[in-house]
Amino acid sequence: MQKAVQNTQENSAINMRKFAVQMQVYRAAIKEVQTKLEILDDAFNVQFEHNPIHHIESRLKSPASIIQKLERKGLPVNSDSVAIGVQDIAGIRVICNYIDDVWRVEQLLLEQDDVTLVKRKDYINNPKDNGYRSLHLIVSIPIFLTGGRKDTLVEVQIRTIAMDMWASLEHKLYYKSDSNIPENLLKRMNACSDALHLIDQEMLNIHQQIQKKNEQEEDA
Ligand code: GTP
Ligand code: MG
Repeated sequence: MQKAVQNTQENSAINMRKFAVQMQVYRAAIKEVQTKLEILDDAFNVQFEHNPIHHIESRLKSPASIIQKLERKGLPVNSDSVAIGVQDIAGIRVICNYIDDVWRVEQLLLEQDDVTLVKRKDYINNPKDNGYRSLHLIVSIPIFLTGGRKDTLVEVQIRTIAMDMWASLEHKLYYKSDSNIPENLLKRMNACSDALHLIDQEMLNIHQQIQKKNEQEEDA
């Protein structure tokens, strides 16, 4: 009996260590992808005098949310099912200035030899029913540790400032109101998303016209 208790304690200590190691790898993956994005933004600015990225946010999913997601998916709570069932432990959100910057950032990131696209969801061209817009990529990147290479998944959400504004407010709305929002308010939220999309397109157009004008003046 005592032996069994000791074994259980040892097993849970091993699992805790395994989990801590996994989390360290995801933290490293966030740093790696964030650095790649910052370098791309800088390089683009030097070449074209425009920063495609407004700012970058990142987060490591908490153990409580990981367990919640595993339970929601009916998976056992262990490190193997975490590796398979939860693809967004490492999360990066890239907020871009204009819509075409979203596609630019995607292309520049995926062009890199060590970045592999695992999953892509384009909620910009195909917004969710509630009006949510964003480009979601799950990418795999190699992380080099003392024990060798470990390919690691990172969720990258890319969206404009306007899309981010909508998503942040919508998130707060649900959080505060227990998701029982009347139909007419949902419709109005959807209309806000459409209006913001039009503004995004108009701002991009204005930006492009100003760029063209500047180029013509430089050539003259
Ligand atoms: P998850 O199991 O929640 O990760 O869903 P999924 O695997 O189907 O991924 P999906 O690409 O739909 O969404 C992943 C993430 O995108 C969420 O964790 C949110 O950060 C964000 N997201 C998706 N839909 C919405 C939405 O309707 N509103 C807001 N505010 N954020 C959303
Ligand atoms: Mg998620």
